[in-house]
Amino acid sequence: PEDIRVYEFAEALNRPISDIIKVLFDLGMMMTKNDFLGNDEIEILSEEFDVEVTIIDPKDEFTHNEEDIEEDPDATERAPVITIMGHVDHGKTSLLDAIREAKVTDGEAGGITQHIGAYTIEQNGKAITFIDTPGHAAFSHMRQRGTAITDIIVIVVAADDGVKPQTLEVIKLAKESGVPVIVALNKMDKETAQPDMVKGQMAEHGMNPVDWGGDIEFIPVSAKSGMGIDDLLENILITADVLELKANENALAKAVVVESSLEKGRGPVATVIVQNGTLKVGDYVVCGASYGRIKALVNEHGKQIKFLLPSHTAVVAGLNEVPASGEIMMTMSSDKEAKEYALKRHEYDRHKELSHSTKSTLEDMTSMI
Ligand code: GTP
Ligand code: MG
Repeated sequence: PEDIRVYEFAEALNRPISDIIKVLFDLGMMMTKNDFLGNDEIEILSEEFDVEVTIIDPKDEFTHNEEDIEEDPDATERAPVITIMGHVDHGKTSLLDAIREAKVTDGEAGGITQHIGAYTIEQNGKAITFIDTPGHAAFSHMRQRGTAITDIIVIVVAADDGVKPQTLEVIKLAKESGVPVIVALNKMDKETAQPDMVKGQMAEHGMNPVDWGGDIEFIPVSAKSGMGIDDLLENILITADVLELKANENALAKAVVVESSLEKGRGPVATVIVQNGTLKVGDYVVCGASYGRIKALVNEHGKQIKFLLPSHTAVVAGLNEVPASGEIMMTMSSDKEAKEYALKRHEYDRHKELSHSTKSTLEDMTSMI
């Protein structure tokens, strides 16, 4: 159920409303029969009354999951999405810049250094999309979100510095998510680089190098000199090949927000990566609680494009509000449908907030007593 009131819950369970209110009251939640139940309350109540409840988060309502894509007979090969992770200052952004610089084709303006959290390059005629993440400890939520859309994680370790706290965090994340890993041993141009020392440290944490009989590729690179970059890209393509990544270009588009902001003159903009389908200029979309019609798609070279294929990334303009990163963008059949859906999400978010604020005020009250 979604947006269920206390009395509706009682009806569904075939129990008197007072039973429900009493259980809630005993837990410090003062609710009347017309109040909406939050997900937390529903969870508690279903345990109390021993019933099974499926909570449908409107966010998930339209999402086609991986299995659907795998079973889709119209799905074709798609490019891999790579997330670059690692400890602060180990050279993630530099490495991405070096890859981009090496791969910018003649037609495209060189030296675009404008910061962008995601971009697509071509290696031997095959596309690869990269997402940058910050190494700083405070951004662990971004790293977590990164794994949800990523096909391969590249862990960057500075060969002169070795395994550090955020390296360990990324190793843990990779293990938990089961996303395949490639290690980039960066800063190999430095005299103080000790690749074997780093391999040893990584092996201690279950990241066993292939040349030591393990299954993790370690690629020596230098973001500074450009050494090893082709090797890294080739390894990414080989790993991606094994994964047999697929998407259906003709399905309803589903994309993930990587970054978002409010820009002067352009309004809310979001960098998205398409997971399935093709996102087109003119599409009606919903994205969390925001909605709109796609006014423009701008790629990493600052060029306006008409459509965006699976695994590719662009900045989308045309939403009425700034969506949070991690939010799912989906194509809708009409403006009306998009708006209705966004309103539902607004309601849902509001109820969630309300249920939290009610609880905190009650906690405040009890702590005052
Ligand atoms: P955060 O985003 O803050 O986590 O850092 P980062 O991992 O993106 O590191 P960044 O690319 O900003 O590089 C940090 C410093 O290392 C910069 O001063 C770079 O110039 C330097 N650096 C990066 N790669 C190399 C390399 O291959 N060799 C040398 N010598 N220096 C490098
Ligand atoms: Mg960086």
